[in-house]
Amino acid sequence: MRKKIAIVGAGNIGGVLGLLCVMRDLGNVTLIDVNEGQAIGKSLDLSQTAALLGVGASVVGTSNIEQGIAGADVIVVTAGVPRQPGMSRDDLLTINAEIIKGIAHKIRDHAPEAFVIVVTNPLDAMAWLLQRESRLPAPMVVGMAGILDSARFRYFLSEEFDVSAQDIRVMVLGGHGDTMVPLVNYSSVGAMSIQHLLRDGWLKQDRFDAMVDRTRYGGAEIVNHLKTGSAFFTPAASAFEMVESYLLDKRRIFPCSAYVQGQYNLRGIYIGVPVVIGAEGVEEIIESPLMECELSAMRDSAKAIRELIEPLEKTLESV
Ligand code: NAI
Ligand code: 2OP
Repeated sequence: MRKKIAIVGAGNIGGVLGLLCVMRDLGNVTLIDVNEGQAIGKSLDLSQTAALLGVGASVVGTSNIEQGIAGADVIVVTAGVPRQPGMSRDDLLTINAEIIKGIAHKIRDHAPEAFVIVVTNPLDAMAWLLQRESRLPAPMVVGMAGILDSARFRYFLSEEFDVSAQDIRVMVLGGHGDTMVPLVNYSSVGAMSIQHLLRDGWLKQDRFDAMVDRTRYGGAEIVNHLKTGSAFFTPAASAFEMVESYLLDKRRIFPCSAYVQGQYNLRGIYIGVPVVIGAEGVEEIIESPLMECELSAMRDSAKAIRELIEPLEKTLESV
């Protein structure tokens, strides 16, 4: 039987993710959005893509989340509002938290067996909230960010060395935000680790630092150009890789936001760590040895995530 992929939020990321699922014939797609016209319009358009490509996947659109997620094998949550001019980070947190909480309760009641990939920002806090409120086991809820941040870093390195990004390996951990942690020891161009390239003078420290910074602010750079929204092609392609690894039990290793319980000396939060995604969801969190400065950066990143979670925790406890 075909797998069912439910995408909650049929906006920019949801639409492109739907297209990728159709193009790779990964399963039947349901687009769900409070804006029913958007969900139905995009689903019709994608059904016609499927007809053109001759793939058997069906695509439907609805604003009824209960029906949309029922029986889903995978649910990708991209629903939310983007940050608008004049809106503070806290405003965004409060608005998207309400949306995620509502979706989490629907998942708890109508799709408790699904594997859930959270995309909505602020990512690590929203993944934490969705897991808590849906009561799904932690390995069945994961956040997408590290694949996107790593893709950006790979692209900048490929430009710097004028080589294919295919031969560049990187690992960006930590929270999806200013405190993300690109790992020097686990990044390489061809067979050469970044550490060696820096040591032997093939890569200047200031050029490397500039690329790390550009990765850190890669999302904002695109927002500044687009003005009315944020990146969506690579975020959708990143979420697609996670959906595929789960449905096809590929057991790929990705940096994803996962629930840590002592790994990297962190616990009780969602944060970017290397994970294995297979048929059981997040099957493993890989604990790679890190340099002290990287561990310290992970602690700083965890602190920034906790600062977002704490007010949410207080609100949830007061109801
Ligand atoms: P978008 O605005 O194009 O789409 C969001 C959609 O969610 C809209 O169509 C809206 O109607 C819908 N929506 C709002 N409330 C809903 C609800 N309760 N139920 C169902 N649908 C609802 O935004 P876009 O570009 O697709 O981004 C989606 C989210 O992903 C944003 O929060 C954005 O900040 C985040 N993002 C995260 C990234 C990551 O690395 N984790 C990267 C890029 C964006
Ligand atoms: C990004 O990194 C805004 O989180 C979004 O593109």
